Amino acid sequence: MVKHYSNSDVEKWRNDGAVIIEGLFSPKEIQSVHKDIDKVFGYKKGGFPIIKNDGNPLTIEEQFLNFENIPFDCSPALNLIGVHPQLISLARDTLSTSDVRLYQSQAWAKFSGETNFEQTFHCDYGNHTLTVPSKKITQNSITFLMYFSDVTEEHGPAHYVTRTDSAKIDKISEKFIDNSSDVSLQKLLAPYEKTTAGIAGTVFAYGIDIFHRATNITKPGAYRFAVTSCFKKGKNDTIGYTAWPFHQQKPWNIIFENATPDQLSCFGVPMPGDPFWDNDTIRLANLRYPAWDMAEYKMKRKLK
Ligand SMILES: [Fe+2]
Repeated sequence: MVKHYSNSDVEKWRNDGAVIIEGLFSPKEIQSVHKDIDKVFGYKKGGFPIIKNDGNPLTIEEQFLNFENIPFDCSPALNLIGVHPQLISLARDTLSTSDVRLYQSQAWAKFSGETNFEQTFHCDYGNHTLTVPSKKITQNSITFLMYFSDVTEEHGPAHYVTRTDSAKIDKISEKFIDNSSDVSLQKLLAPYEKTTAGIAGTVFAYGIDIFHRATNITKPGAYRFAVTSCFKKGKNDTIGYTAWPFHQQKPWNIIFENATPDQLSCFGVPMPGDPFWDNDTIRLANLRYPAWDMAEYKMKRKLK
């Protein structure tokens, strides 16, 4: 596979904890995912923006009104974009491992007028680990925030501060743990604020220790279609978010019928040749997902 990202993108993520990459997906893939998100949430339409300038913006439930994990009853495009081969490869390169797990993938649609989307700076580790981010960054995880509609400053792009910049502020991480609602910390971060605004297909890759915040959609009738996808190293029990089997009622057959073994392994499905796959497990798994092509799993089992 030809990588659509460079070594310097990987280095940038490792050093800065944040990098913006364009060109990972083809225009057709971007269009298909846009169409799927439109099918899932697009019965809604953007209204008149709600803009509040009084006091510090808050992270509130309404900002996550249309934020739901895969799979969806739509084409494979949205269901598999989170495990796109380019993302798997990037996750492996950044986390320095060949074995990665997907622990979150959500479609996220925002429409102007639903709420004031403006947030204060925060890090995501709060709901990705019960402890704290490690300085050994490959022990943490990588999050991809991917836009599937054009996002200008009026469409609520995420804003962020690189690790290199936040390190210039004395003990900012410690101060945040101590009192995250201290408004003075927001003022210290503000001068370093960068935007993720970009055309459909733009990917913002960041770590759980990176300060970032949502901004408001200020354009009337506008929307922002995004997908999140988070990877960690296999066997890393310190990181979590979604337990995939908990969502068993969702249309998993779409994923099993269209994913490669490599993509399925990101969800925790053992690879062909893994000792898990014996005649019994293959037969029963094929009963559970009758249209899943298990040829490779059967072939590797027979070779053993
Ligand atoms: Fe966040």
